[in-house]
Amino acid sequence: MAPEARDVVVVGGGAIGLSIGWRIAAAGLTVTIVDAAAGSGSSAAAAGMLAPASEAHFGETTLLALNLASAESYPAFVEELEDTSGLSAGYRRCGTLVVARHSDDGAQLIRLHDFQKAHGLDVKRLRSRECRELEPALAPSIRGGLLASGDHAVDNRMLVVALLEACTRSGARLHDGRVTEVRSGDGGRVTSVDLADGESMPCGAVVVAAGCWSGSIEGVPPESVPVRPVKGQLLYLRGPAELPLASRNIRSLDVYVVGRGDGRVAIGATVEEMGFDTTVTAGAAHALLRDTIEILPGAAELELVETVAGLRPGSPDNAPIIGATEIEGLTVATGHYRNGILLTPVTADAVAELVVNGKTSDLIAPFGPARFAAGPGT
Ligand code: GLY
Repeated sequence: MAPEARDVVVVGGGAIGLSIGWRIAAAGLTVTIVDAAAGSGSSAAAAGMLAPASEAHFGETTLLALNLASAESYPAFVEELEDTSGLSAGYRRCGTLVVARHSDDGAQLIRLHDFQKAHGLDVKRLRSRECRELEPALAPSIRGGLLASGDHAVDNRMLVVALLEACTRSGARLHDGRVTEVRSGDGGRVTSVDLADGESMPCGAVVVAAGCWSGSIEGVPPESVPVRPVKGQLLYLRGPAELPLASRNIRSLDVYVVGRGDGRVAIGATVEEMGFDTTVTAGAAHALLRDTIEILPGAAELELVETVAGLRPGSPDNAPIIGATEIEGLTVATGHYRNGILLTPVTADAVAELVVNGKTSDLIAPFGPARFAAGPGT
């Protein structure tokens, strides 16, 4: 590797950028992570469900394999992160129960279960009584469900705080700023980044991990980062820690409820094409509460403690965009859409392998930016 390629700038300090920065710094390269508000963007607005099986979608088989691989690597990733940072990431092996509210939901869950079984996923169909034996707070009216015992959760905010600490302890530098342009030299290789305050930062490699803002950086080929913001609103409720609403992640087809282990539950989330708007609306709060109380009536008694809106980086095919671009030294890791927290370990390891050793792992090969070469609408 040319000496200058050892100076890496990571654009974006969310879970993806921080985990990449941590991994690359741990491999001995010089890393600067640039973000004006590291750790407080979309990663802090997520719910932290790690649910490849219960959130499997028809037609997304390649993405399912990546999601499963990342879920499998979570325990080891968290252990290493906690060792390095000295902080808990709030990983909970809780499982997920998806419930049907009526017979239409029931029919959809049967189709989902067929898809899950066809892909060898560990998901079991349960009757209503069996669901309520597992989770007594569920409404008596629910019509059965699917238990995904391997779908867990992480406290995404604790994860990000631990990643910030791990970055610092591994020698990565955090720079408070905003990258406006990636510059390349005559040879077509990355040479520096420009910041909004006029500073220029020389570097030999750049990783763009700026979520839905990745497409607004000059010098990054637009077809490599066809991302758009997809708004998600989420609420936090709080009850007594000793009397949790549920011990598993609970979801219906419309809402999910993720416990934090301290009496708080995150309930989410809307999926809205609203550009960069992050207003929390009364209608969304109403719908989230209504849908939650329908399956977990006891939620009505909890305190509403926080409302949040974040922006997922959506891509044209809902899959992440991870890999080298046509510009030498420029890598992208964005477009994680609804799976940013879940895909953090696999993205970090694959991008570190690419930046440090120049190798594209088989896992991320289908997700390179070249698949959009014919245009962002493909
Ligand atoms: N993965 C959950 C969400 O994006 O709302």
